[in-house]
Amino acid sequence: MQVIIREYSTKDFKEVLEIDREAFNPRNPSFDMYVYLTYGNDIFVADIGNKIVGYVVTMDLDQIRGKIVSIAVRKEFRGSGIGEYLMKRAIERLKEKGKKEISLEVRVSNNVAQNLYEKLGFKIVETIPNYYSDGEDAYYMVLSLSEQ
Ligand SMILES: CC(C)(COP(=O)(O)OP(=O)(O)OC[C@H]1O[C@@H](n2cnc3c(N)ncnc32)[C@H](O)[C@@H]1OP(=O)(O)O)[C@@H](O)C(=O)NCCC(=O)NCCS
Repeated sequence: MQVIIREYSTKDFKEVLEIDREAFNPRNPSFDMYVYLTYGNDIFVADIGNKIVGYVVTMDLDQIRGKIVSIAVRKEFRGSGIGEYLMKRAIERLKEKGKKEISLEVRVSNNVAQNLYEKLGFKIVETIPNYYSDGEDAYYMVLSLSEQ
């Protein structure tokens, strides 16, 4: 299987929403993703030729700070490095744009994602109580690019 990480285009909209729903919110259409796909700054997808199997959405917070707002890989394609490829591409782009720091929030229960972020150098900076609508706390994680 050949996986190409490429820029998101509007023709990917439906598939990205599908992946988002499968990963986060199977019952409801994700309003957040509509907003991200409209206002996200750099969005990449993992393309295996006949379909999209993952995406990552970034945002510019200001000139020196960027953010990873969402990342997901289709269930049957997880564990084969696609999440890591997507994150690396997103980080590379934010670096090229002169960002010195990248942040994200992750559920305290989401060990898989935390492992991925830690592998790439993100560190837990603080816990944000009740961050998610179901009351779960988030870890606020930061990757400092000026240290690299
Ligand atoms: C988090 C997610 C994007 C990771 O994507 P993936 O393609 O499965 O991850 P990769 O195969 O690239 O793995 C990269 C690293 O993640 C961690 N990881 C991946 N799967 C893991 C598992 N089952 N258990 C523990 N750690 C795991 C490891 O650190 C791994 O590195 P390693 O292979 O050297 O051990 C994917 O699991 C996903 O879509 N989850 C649902 C949505 C989600 O939680 N998004 C993040 C919200 S903040």
